[in-house]
Amino acid sequence: MADQMLRGRVAVVTGASKGLGKAMAVALARSGATVALVARSGELLEQARAEIDAQGGESHVVVADLREESDVARMAGQVRRAVGSPDILINNAGMNLRKPLHEFTLTEWRLIMQTNLDSAFLCSRAFVPGMIEKHFGRIINIASTMAHVALAHRAAYCASKFGVLGMTKALALELAPHGVTANAISPGPFATEMNTVLMQDPVRNAQFISHIPVGRWGKAEELGPLVTFLCSEAAGFITGADILIDGGWTAQ
Ligand SMILES: NC(=O)c1ccc[n+]([C@@H]2O[C@H](COP(=O)([O-])OP(=O)(O)OC[C@H]3O[C@@H](n4cnc5c(N)ncnc54)[C@H](OP(=O)(O)O)[C@@H]3O)[C@@H](O)[C@H]2O)c1
Repeated sequence: MADQMLRGRVAVVTGASKGLGKAMAVALARSGATVALVARSGELLEQARAEIDAQGGESHVVVADLREESDVARMAGQVRRAVGSPDILINNAGMNLRKPLHEFTLTEWRLIMQTNLDSAFLCSRAFVPGMIEKHFGRIINIASTMAHVALAHRAAYCASKFGVLGMTKALALELAPHGVTANAISPGPFATEMNTVLMQDPVRNAQFISHIPVGRWGKAEELGPLVTFLCSEAAGFITGADILIDGGWTAQ
């Protein structure tokens, strides 16, 4: 394992079964944290755990649907029993639906809000008291460039991610006296399953890439060093911040 900057820390990563969440979980484990991997797909979580194991890291799988208040409470209990009270929470679970606002059903709208925003609220609520008790904590909420700018057909997604950013700032102020930081990371376009539909359409893919100044999709592992640093002791004066990692998308 690499630098061991997070040795002795316990981390929870939501949406750790694939994509950005899995990459961040691998990075945190490489830095020495014991990582609770949370999502709905037990099979994919076990694969992530096996990858972490193979690299000498330590992780534990907890299956949960984070839209459900009762499931989050059960998950939190399971995490505490398995690995102890978390020092680090990465609220990463999320989803997107792309279509015109007038075609959204209320159920679809709520699905996005519950997955992207309610889950971050519920998980933070579950683990913040333990962080306050330790007088140490690191909460990272995965927002998006869509929390800064918008694209057509992303009304629900943008609303949820602007919400994530607002919650992060309020939480940072609440928790600052307790040694707990709350920050957001706003990724731009990353090559994950969430964007498969776009990437598989050659026309839309080319259009998309032409809007990324760096000229390519982000790679999930590029989030690792950033999240590891934000979770370390060294980042204790960074709170309420939002770090864009977007290949220049929002600089335009
Ligand atoms: N990829 C990008 O370009 C991009 C850009 C900006 C922001 N983001 C944000 O980054 C985060 C990760 O995105 P990604 O690209 O890695 O997406 P992804 O590959 O689709 O992964 C989404 C993760 O969220 C989990 N998840 C979804 N609904 C859940 C639920 N109800 N309960 C528990 N877990 C749930 C999924 O696991 P299960 O299906 O197994 O539950 C999966 O692990 C999201 O918040 C997304 O909005 C992504």
